[in-house]
Amino acid sequence: MKVQLPVRRAILERRTYEPLAEGRRNKLRLDFNENTAGCSPAVPRALAKLSTKQLAMYPEYEASTQRLARHFGVHPQELLLANGGDDALRVFFDAFVDAGSRILICEPTFPMYRYYAEIFAARIDAIHYSAEMQFPLEDAFLALRKKPRVLFLANPNNPTGTLLQKAQLQAILKAATHTAVVIDEAYADFSGLTLIPWIRRYPQLFVARTFSKAAGLASLRLGAVIACAESLALLRRAMPPYPVNLAALVAADAAVRDRAAMRRYVKDVKRVRTWFAAELKRLGVTTYPSAGNFLLADFGPGGPALFEKFARRGILVRERSKEIGPGFVRITIGTAAEMQRLSKAIQTSGFSPASSERRWRRRTGTI
Ligand SMILES: Cc1ncc(COP(=O)(O)O)c(C=O)c1O
Repeated sequence: MKVQLPVRRAILERRTYEPLAEGRRNKLRLDFNENTAGCSPAVPRALAKLSTKQLAMYPEYEASTQRLARHFGVHPQELLLANGGDDALRVFFDAFVDAGSRILICEPTFPMYRYYAEIFAARIDAIHYSAEMQFPLEDAFLALRKKPRVLFLANPNNPTGTLLQKAQLQAILKAATHTAVVIDEAYADFSGLTLIPWIRRYPQLFVARTFSKAAGLASLRLGAVIACAESLALLRRAMPPYPVNLAALVAADAAVRDRAAMRRYVKDVKRVRTWFAAELKRLGVTTYPSAGNFLLADFGPGGPALFEKFARRGILVRERSKEIGPGFVRITIGTAAEMQRLSKAIQTSGFSPASSERRWRRRTGTI
């Protein structure tokens, strides 16, 4: 039977590529910024207590929302829960973006902003981090004059690790009088900087959070948006009735109760990140200051072959050669033992930034 499905043009024209997250089991997974140490043991204990009857009913949200709101230091009306951080980002498109309307992003950044913008046929205004991975504040002010519907700003930014400070964020908010400003704080537990206390001062401010990173619940999919009650009510109008599953709520509840586990993990990541950055420097690899649980590194022209070698040895990293330049990679900070394994793999691979650069220059005829 021949049929012609009436698919939207924007769907066929979507370009932004998302890597398949399959076949990663039993590998050293330093490619998705997950908590490689695992979540608090309180989480599986809480999940095991769920009854068959509970699982058979549609979830109720009030009690969990109250507890999670308390965790973030806001009122329940100021917290919206979603099926992962990704889904929390999509709601901004549902609520604010028509086909052809502008959104503003600063690249390189989390690809889901562009991904959704393409699906919604939005016009993407992109400004760019500098070669030193600094945020272009003046460019942002200029772009905001065009009144984009939404500005998506990851802080710390993925993959650059860049952290905007409060003074810069305040200047952006003051310039954004006709724009919903989404500060994506997926990695705020590592940076220690959050704009949540400002939500009542700036109605255009929406803080996006996830339980996938420091809380270690990526498999369960729980994200959140925090904003003043009136602004958040607009997003709620675009939400389905049961956006979040009960297991995710129970797990998040248990995870935030075990604050000590989360603090310990964040502290470990920061310590290992400092060590690993110094290790890469010693090996002649450029890194950029990162406020997240990952590092952006530039291995130079020899990088792509090296990352392939890692993959063959079961070590996964997130290559960003296409978006940033040949040899750029984002590496999740795992446990000390995991990072030692990666360091050893680099050292035994025969990689040398200088020699690989010479080889590359010879090949391209630049020496
Ligand atoms: C900046 C940023 N925002 C949001 C997310 C979404 O995370 P999740 O959908 O797992 O909650 C990620 C995940 O990598 C991220 O890096």
